[in-house]
Amino acid sequence: MRQTDHVSVTVPYLRIMKAEGRKIAALTAYDVSFAQAMDRAGIDVVLIGDSLGMVVQGHKTTLPVSLADMAYHTACVARGLERPLIIADMPFLTFQGGLEDALRAAGALMQAGAHMVKLEGAGPVLETVAYLHARGIPVCGHIGLTPQSVNAFGGFKVQGRGERGGELRVQAHKLAEAGVDALVLEAVPAMLAAEITRHVPVPTIGIGAGRDCDGQVLVMHDVLGLNTRAPRFVRDFLAHGGSIEGAFRAYVEAVRGGAFPTEAESYAS
Ligand code: KIV
Repeated sequence: MRQTDHVSVTVPYLRIMKAEGRKIAALTAYDVSFAQAMDRAGIDVVLIGDSLGMVVQGHKTTLPVSLADMAYHTACVARGLERPLIIADMPFLTFQGGLEDALRAAGALMQAGAHMVKLEGAGPVLETVAYLHARGIPVCGHIGLTPQSVNAFGGFKVQGRGERGGELRVQAHKLAEAGVDALVLEAVPAMLAAEITRHVPVPTIGIGAGRDCDGQVLVMHDVLGLNTRAPRFVRDFLAHGGSIEGAFRAYVEAVRGGAFPTEAESYAS
């Protein structure tokens, strides 16, 4: 075990990991027991995703998730963590209605225990990113398949194929300029994600975005084989790990060693 494995993961530390080519292993969590198991397993970043609307609450999309839901689950998770960086999702409609509203929502998540908030999209979101960044709130961007826009996309579909890739490249650069400290790339071709990763100064964390991102994130339930309609970028680590904590350890090892995701678990251009 390296000495740095004991260091708390901070925002500047993520940049060091990118600079040193050390992969970031991230998972979603929604409660204290799973969060503690992730910490013991060496997970670097824990995301309280609004995916909780689907995997915890049973909704078909993330749209019904409220700020109170996110703050509650963020507090539950944060109580269980020592080393990982904690990112909390800003739910649908908490950052589209004005800068002050966004600041209040982000503040509530930080007070619940988050170290960083995540906002989906670019365009009108850029001003909000810059506003939060200027007020000392670290922000993670999220582009590609942004689940809060599932209705606009007409389903959970791969984004950025062919000429649409240019749009995502521009969004990534603009988000970095606006002040994001990390960037989630979801369901985009592996080559495009690799190119964005090479050119933006902030760490990219991929989900269905190929092995060349600076890190990987998956929904916890998917890693534990609970998704009966899993997309191609999901791997059941419980099958190899033998236990829940073992599955998290196997995931960390596969991400750090570059064994996850494979080409078959990624999208072509
Ligand atoms: O809500 C979530 O879990 C997410 C990840 C899938 C990146 O945003």
